[in-house]
Amino acid sequence: MPEPIQLGLTGANGRMGRALQALLSDDARFALASKVAHSDDWRAARELDIVIDFSTPEGFDAALGYCESHGVALVSGTTGIDAAQRRRFDAAAAKIPVLYAANFSLGIAVLTRLLRDAASALPHWDLEIIEAHHSRKVDAPSGTALALGRAAAGARRQDFDEVADFARHGHTGARPESAIGFSSIRAGEIVGEHTAFLVGHDERIELTHRAYDNTIFARGALHAAAWLAGKPAGAYSLDNVLAA
Ligand SMILES: NC(=O)c1ccc[n+]([C@@H]2O[C@H](COP(=O)([O-])OP(=O)(O)OC[C@H]3O[C@@H](n4cnc5c(N)ncnc54)[C@H](OP(=O)(O)O)[C@@H]3O)[C@@H](O)[C@H]2O)c1
Repeated sequence: MPEPIQLGLTGANGRMGRALQALLSDDARFALASKVAHSDDWRAARELDIVIDFSTPEGFDAALGYCESHGVALVSGTTGIDAAQRRRFDAAAAKIPVLYAANFSLGIAVLTRLLRDAASALPHWDLEIIEAHHSRKVDAPSGTALALGRAAAGARRQDFDEVADFARHGHTGARPESAIGFSSIRAGEIVGEHTAFLVGHDERIELTHRAYDNTIFARGALHAAAWLAGKPAGAYSLDNVLAA
């Protein structure tokens, strides 16, 4: 039996943190060495191999700072981070192994591949991405919806920031042909739903993924962390994990 991976968990008291701990209690691959609920807790962190971060943009910064300065691998699923934070994360890949996914479900990873295919095969069809989440979610559109939009824009060789259409209210004018539109629903206890509408003349494709339980993200993050531990410095994605 190999030595267990020494794991640090940040956002430990949150919904994802609790889902991860429930799985970890029965997972011999990992030893839960440090739990971080606030940035100050990093001062007491033990020697770690890897950190899993599902917290807040502030928690993300603190985890990245700790991992970079201590040479620890980082898996993050925190959403709502800005472009500068994402750049710092990618730059850290020169020193440590890092893996970010806006959604750790394997189903979403495959949906992303399907959407890339459909968007590039049907470059002139209108594309709209609709997502639904629980009423406590504070960022919109979801990180997953944005990642799906970026994947589709990439497949169509479009500049995402130019084609993304986030707000429609009042006299909007006609839909620009190349737009990728986003809509968000916030209600009740919805765990996470994403649909990409591809609409052509008199026909439509809908690609939908529904998450029924947060456990799928926690399971995917642990799968990714077990895969990432011991890898050389670099930026990895869930696609790399799926292909392995
Ligand atoms: N990528 C994916 O697959 C995926 C899946 C689900 C969720 N998420 C994302 O993961 C994040 C957490 O989701 P959640 O549903 O678990 O949210 P949550 O229940 O609100 O948990 C977030 C936790 O982070 C803690 N926190 C705040 N500041 C911190 C800091 N500086 N250091 C460490 N922890 C800190 C919060 O503590 P306090 O309450 O004390 O502030 C809270 O316990 C969100 O960004 C969410 O969108 C991603």
